Amino acid sequence: MIFNIAKLPGDGIGPEIVEQAVKAIDAVCVKFGHKVNYTSALVGACAIDATGEPYPAETHKVCMESDAVLFGAIGDPRFDNNPNAKVRPEQGLLKMRKELGLYANIRPVTTFAELAHKSPLRIDLVEGADLVCIRELTGGLYFGRPQGRSEDGNTAYDTCVYNRDEITRICKLGFEYAMARRKQLTVVDKANVLATSRLWREVAKEMEKDYPEVKVEYMFVDNAAMKLVTQPKYFDVMVTENMFGDILTDEASVITGSLGLLPSASIGVHTSLFEPIHGSYPQAAGKNIANPIATILSAAMMFEYAFKLYDEGKAIRNAVAESLKQGIVTEDIAGDGQPYGTDQVGDFIKQQILK
Ligand code: IPM
Ligand code: MG
Repeated sequence: MIFNIAKLPGDGIGPEIVEQAVKAIDAVCVKFGHKVNYTSALVGACAIDATGEPYPAETHKVCMESDAVLFGAIGDPRFDNNPNAKVRPEQGLLKMRKELGLYANIRPVTTFAELAHKSPLRIDLVEGADLVCIRELTGGLYFGRPQGRSEDGNTAYDTCVYNRDEITRICKLGFEYAMARRKQLTVVDKANVLATSRLWREVAKEMEKDYPEVKVEYMFVDNAAMKLVTQPKYFDVMVTENMFGDILTDEASVITGSLGLLPSASIGVHTSLFEPIHGSYPQAAGKNIANPIATILSAAMMFEYAFKLYDEGKAIRNAVAESLKQGIVTEDIAGDGQPYGTDQVGDFIKQQILK
């Protein structure tokens, strides 16, 4: 096959880690006889610097014309503490999600035996945890209007909006994932307080009859936050709205002790996007210390989700497992062992794939 991949390294450590994922993709293509073309494009702070826009029209065009988007990270401290900044890198991310119609963010949370000791939780609680968070990504508080300030500046407001179609399509994914896994779906909401949550519940309940094998549970978000740290193994598939999902997925990602290892896929109407779940880690930019594995595993998800090529995805996963086993890893997870550079980890994984 021939793949056209939009390469969007973004900011901070983005370029370094994306480069390692490119090595893995190239190696897979050599091994399995595929051809790949990359088109690079700007997003985030680097795009603001170059064009004034965080998600320029040219970048959108590149994404629309590609088979998949490989994305690094965005964010730059120059903007974080500057209340006067009119455009922010994060706006680029939101615009990209909206314009590509990426309504679902899929984050598998798995434990890696080698890293269970890095978990902030007791090993017996976390070992073997295996869940998927499905976060709605283009609705809710992030996009609801009106949003803003009163004229005197003393009142601010955001609006949470969801309609039936938006809820149906994301819950459908939740049910389908549950069917393909342990058939247990947790719908996370705040239906005791929020009108949008009550509509979520109503819609999800109506869908239950189409998936009689799936055991569905409705859980308030505060309870879910608690259960994630007290009983992470309780969950199989979790589906929730944008803001709850933002918070819960960060929480879920650290309990395994492997933040630098977790990939994600954002899928929807147009081209799917694959990115590590960690951020741009500006303090590490250019130092060759960032962990590239989450991005490399995002490339594995790309083969599986966007191209339906499971052996190719598996080849990347096996190579990553080997790097963990042999301790060819960056300083964040090296422990007492010798730490390797970002590029050395990428090279090792590439060689493993080619073997
Ligand atoms: C994420 C991030 C973004 C979000 C930020 C950078 C806008 O936290 O992808 O989870 O809140 O969605
Ligand atoms: Mg987040």
